[in-house]
Amino acid sequence: MKFTDSPVIELPIRDAVLSIQQDNGSMHVGTSVWPCSLVLAKFVERWTPPLPAPTSTSTSNSNSNSNINNNDNNPYADLLDFRSERRRAIELGTGCGAAGMALYLLGLVDIVLTDISPVMPALKHNLKRNKPVLNKALKTSVLYWNNRDQIRSLNPPFDVVIAADVVYIEESAVQLLGAMEELVSDDGVVLLGYQLRSPEAHKLFWELCEKAFVIEKVPHEDLHPDYCYEEADVYILKKKKKENVD
Ligand SMILES: C[S@@+](CC[C@H](N)C(=O)[O-])C[C@H]1O[C@@H](n2cnc3c(N)ncnc32)[C@H](O)[C@@H]1O
Repeated sequence: MKFTDSPVIELPIRDAVLSIQQDNGSMHVGTSVWPCSLVLAKFVERWTPPLPAPTSTSTSNSNSNSNINNNDNNPYADLLDFRSERRRAIELGTGCGAAGMALYLLGLVDIVLTDISPVMPALKHNLKRNKPVLNKALKTSVLYWNNRDQIRSLNPPFDVVIAADVVYIEESAVQLLGAMEELVSDDGVVLLGYQLRSPEAHKLFWELCEKAFVIEKVPHEDLHPDYCYEEADVYILKKKKKENVD
């Protein structure tokens, strides 16, 4: 997998190509595209069931079952079948919006992309830049993980919370976990692109995480073969049922 510090990253998603412009000179980490977001996006692309082919109104032939057959061999079919039911989604620390835009293209159409105020110009620039591909102005909102009013104003719960490369400061690990817990519904899911950035933040985040969530690490062989590398992981987090919480 090749990453580039080129100002523009191209991310192919199904038959579209997202073009994301970075501002590597900025002092904010959110104005760069971090590789975990691409790993997460391409994992989801790999396993999200394709849209059913349009069926003729007059005939229903055996081809219409091909997706069902595919889904039988797809361990993530239910989790990532964004089209079959309405799913409200939110991305935390979206940065330039790579993962959020990709998952929108994969069917997560009711999604709000969030980050801190100084990152909003880079996010909005990239949403505008990709408008011809997205065909829609995606929703954005300023959200600091420790701001309860901002969290409440987003009207949780959400069925899907996505986040990529957001665990790198020990002090904010608690806030991030708190925000995830408040935002995700009891039967919802957090899709987390992860890379170890700080041993302290890592330790605290996972200690707290296992108290609140059932943690599933996606095997590396399930990641997209062209978008994976040793240090990057995708995790699927589901809230522990109340009686299971330690
Ligand atoms: C390493 S960047 C990852 C950006 C993007 N997810 C990606 O993978 O390209 C971490 C992101 O988390 C955001 N972030 C950090 N601390 C935050 C906080 N306390 N509240 C909200 N967002 C925060 C940053 O602004 C930044 O956009």
